[in-house]
Amino acid sequence: MNLPQLFSKYQFGPNELKNRFLMAPMTRSRTSQPGDVPNTLMAEYYAQRASAGIIITEATQVSLQGMGYAKTPGIYSPEQIEGWKLTTQAVHQAGSTIFLQLWHVGRVGSAQVNGLQPLAPSAITAQKTNVYIFDGAPNGDATFVPVDEPKAMTQADIDQAIAEFVQGAKNAIAAGFDGVEIHAANGYLIDQFLRSNSNQRTDAYGGSQENRIRFLMETTTAVAQAIGKEKTGVRLSPFISFKDMNDPEILETIALAAAQLNKLDIAYIHLSEADWDDAPQIPMDFRIQLRNDFKNTIIATGNKTPEEGEQLLAAQLVDLIGFGRNFLTNPDYPQRLLQDAPLNPISDTHTLFGGGSSRGYTDYPFWEQPA
Ligand SMILES: Cc1cc2nc3c(=O)[nH]c(=O)nc-3n(C[C@H](O)[C@H](O)[C@H](O)COP(=O)(O)O)c2cc1C
Repeated sequence: MNLPQLFSKYQFGPNELKNRFLMAPMTRSRTSQPGDVPNTLMAEYYAQRASAGIIITEATQVSLQGMGYAKTPGIYSPEQIEGWKLTTQAVHQAGSTIFLQLWHVGRVGSAQVNGLQPLAPSAITAQKTNVYIFDGAPNGDATFVPVDEPKAMTQADIDQAIAEFVQGAKNAIAAGFDGVEIHAANGYLIDQFLRSNSNQRTDAYGGSQENRIRFLMETTTAVAQAIGKEKTGVRLSPFISFKDMNDPEILETIALAAAQLNKLDIAYIHLSEADWDDAPQIPMDFRIQLRNDFKNTIIATGNKTPEEGEQLLAAQLVDLIGFGRNFLTNPDYPQRLLQDAPLNPISDTHTLFGGGSSRGYTDYPFWEQPA
């Protein structure tokens, strides 16, 4: 396959990326216990995928409170910082760039996971939303449980959450990451503040669109001040409504946020455009408006084909293309495309969120030319 755009270099702040492929953040639940600590297996998995110009790690909780699923990694304890050093060293040695995704799940939580009542902008339980635990099911399978009713955050809770994002960002830099991605997408805490259905606050964080973006802006401002704006990115999901996040105003709210984020001059906006099998058509005028409103790097991820990636790059509407599942199953995804090699399918969906083993994780084979 001839993919001149995807295989072109890109100057990304201080980092020269060897291509425009981005490995999208993917939760895999392989940490060591106790303490949700990143380990050598995870370092091996990420280093295998260093064919991507840049990797964004799986979502990583900034505190125990911010954790929503079993065995996801944290970035708040000394052990976690040490554990992540294994990954950053391995990925850098293998020749790629890596950002850590900073995560607070907000209301998408259960005391069965972390022993705590979830926090949220308002005390509104997400309907039809589950998290998972590992409770000894056969094959180490995850068991899904409904989320608990959240507690509405006080001002002190909001200040605390922002401080956790800041500390998480500093810890990520200490662990050797090239930067951080603030997870403001996919129905988690910051996204819950953005949307009118999950945010019914009557203080300065709710009501108008200006108020609903306040938590995102304060968090991003504080993180950028702490580690540098060129090391700070934000993920947003204007077209996603799962986890009970349907808000008719979200496109406008996100457009407003993008213009404000541009003033902060942060490194990038990463759009989470589609989940798994849905394929929303992203209106061209949204892409053009975003390009006009936000001057730094724009990333598009979600059910992208290489051909669509080429078109978006050639039209200069985005700068990097994210691929999730294709990198999960093909550590050498870019090379496979170059050689028109077949792609590995997902070997077993039970291993996506997988409890600890290398099966369905580091055992996806690299392509070998048939003799
Ligand atoms: C197993 C799995 C775990 C995921 N975990 C995360 C995550 O931790 N953070 C996030 O922002 N998106 C997460 N996503 C969404 C992906 O980043 C991506 O947006 C999605 O898979 C669509 O891209 P794709 O069609 O190329 O796979 C996950 C996706 C998968 C398949």
